[in-house]
Amino acid sequence: MEILTTVATARSLVKNKPLVLVPTMGALHKAHLQLIRIARAHAGPDGEVAVSIFVNPLQFEPGSDYQRYPRPEKADEDFCRDAGVDLLFRPPVGDMYFDDRSTFVEETSLSSVLEGKSRLGHFRGVCTVVAKLFNILAPDAAVFGEKDFQQLAIVRRMVRDLNFNIDIIAVPTIREDDGLACSSRNQYLNVEERKQATVLRKALMKGAAMAGDGEKSAARIVSAVRETIEQAALARIDYADLVDAESLQSIEVVRPNSLLALAVFFGKTRLIDNIRLP
Ligand code: PAF
Repeated sequence: MEILTTVATARSLVKNKPLVLVPTMGALHKAHLQLIRIARAHAGPDGEVAVSIFVNPLQFEPGSDYQRYPRPEKADEDFCRDAGVDLLFRPPVGDMYFDDRSTFVEETSLSSVLEGKSRLGHFRGVCTVVAKLFNILAPDAAVFGEKDFQQLAIVRRMVRDLNFNIDIIAVPTIREDDGLACSSRNQYLNVEERKQATVLRKALMKGAAMAGDGEKSAARIVSAVRETIEQAALARIDYADLVDAESLQSIEVVRPNSLLALAVFFGKTRLIDNIRLP
């Protein structure tokens, strides 16, 4: 595995094979392994898989967990090697961002709802860093998980609107055995919070079951979802919303391509999850 620690070395890479990128912020876990596997399958026998690890300061709101975000460098490096990654790109912050930077990439429609309402500037940070990674590594394709459904939708929109010549590949959410969606932030949870966090999946399944049984009212589904979550004493709901999976706008009546999305705090840890309704 080749490790690239500067933007300059990554840019000077001679590319004569298809390259598939898995952008990450490190603290790699089994969901990342699945992203890497899908990237490998997509790259084909002659292609290469690159993983970027960069905890992007621009996408953390002031006062959030940027400083304490886990950075297990050695474990991540071993993880990538074991997963058969060809290139690991791990630039320092000072190499990615000039002190006097003044150019950003901002998607202005899909970013204004759900996560965008709670995390001001988050998606501007995501779009800016993803655009930079795309420019630096020039991959043919990039892989994103559906747990961050809104991020995936926004990256697709950015790629379309700005004519990046890059395929975006979506990977279904990977879960722990008890249903909790894999996330680097799960490790912040204490034992009791971790136990109660399984309520998220239960609530999503409840919503999906109601829709499957013919319930059409978004308000009734969302209210049942909220009630389910509220049974967990440590849960504090940020949002639970039923939206159109294309526009991400709230809907009142369930229709094909509806998405139930939620964000819930357990202590200081904010978790997100979603499900497509049948
Ligand atoms: O999903 C993530 O880990 C990050 O938002 C990403 C896409 C790597 C950009 O920093």
